[in-house]
Amino acid sequence: MNQQPELRTERLLLRPFIPQDAATVQQLARDRAIADTTLNIPHPYPDDLAAKWISAHAPRFRDGRGAIFAITLLADGSLVGSIGLVTHPTHNRAELGYWMGRPYWNQGYTTEAARAIIRYGFEDLGLNRIFAYHFRRNPASERVMQKIGMQSEGMLRQHVQKWGVYEDLGIYAILKSNHDAT
Ligand SMILES: CC(C)(COP(=O)(O)OP(=O)(O)OC[C@H]1O[C@@H](n2cnc3c(N)ncnc32)[C@H](O)[C@@H]1OP(=O)(O)O)[C@@H](O)C(=O)NCCC(=O)NCCS
Repeated sequence: MNQQPELRTERLLLRPFIPQDAATVQQLARDRAIADTTLNIPHPYPDDLAAKWISAHAPRFRDGRGAIFAITLLADGSLVGSIGLVTHPTHNRAELGYWMGRPYWNQGYTTEAARAIIRYGFEDLGLNRIFAYHFRRNPASERVMQKIGMQSEGMLRQHVQKWGVYEDLGIYAILKSNHDAT
């Protein structure tokens, strides 16, 4: 597969990012609340980071190392967040990651997008396992994982450091066999 698809849900269109999205990504991701519970988003958010991040997506997809999607609203095309899979082809497994712009929280958008990504991962990418981590102090993210049918596999105590503080990480996963049974 050499073209990343678009995925449509009831309220959302998930599509590849384009360079013109950089300003909106910058504006949403610079919010400290986004950096606070993610591992790879810095704060302050450097001016050129969004453009660099977007430019890395196409090679990642082409090389079979993942698929990152812009979450946009079908109603008006607004870019509201990001969701994606980083794949480990040897094991047919991928890590799910996401963030949603703060003005759009708690409207079910991440859950809706994640359901589509899970289906895409198992049915189109042929994955066997999709897993995700959340900071223990991030119940909203854990809730998304639960709502999309992932199962808890435990808590990794003080597994990472964020801003000088050791953080516990919850790990959730779903297998293709779980997905097929739904
Ligand atoms: C985590 C995040 C992506 C959730 O996005 P979202 O679009 O608001 O998620 P949804 O609306 O689909 O679901 C959120 C769920 O968490 C629940 N929730 C929100 N805050 C909560 C809290 N403090 N305690 C418990 N549950 C909470 C909501 O009620 C909702 O569950 P419900 O449908 O059962 O009521 C968003 O908060 C975010 O981007 N945070 C910063 C970045 C981040 O943490 N990314 C994930 C890294 S693992």
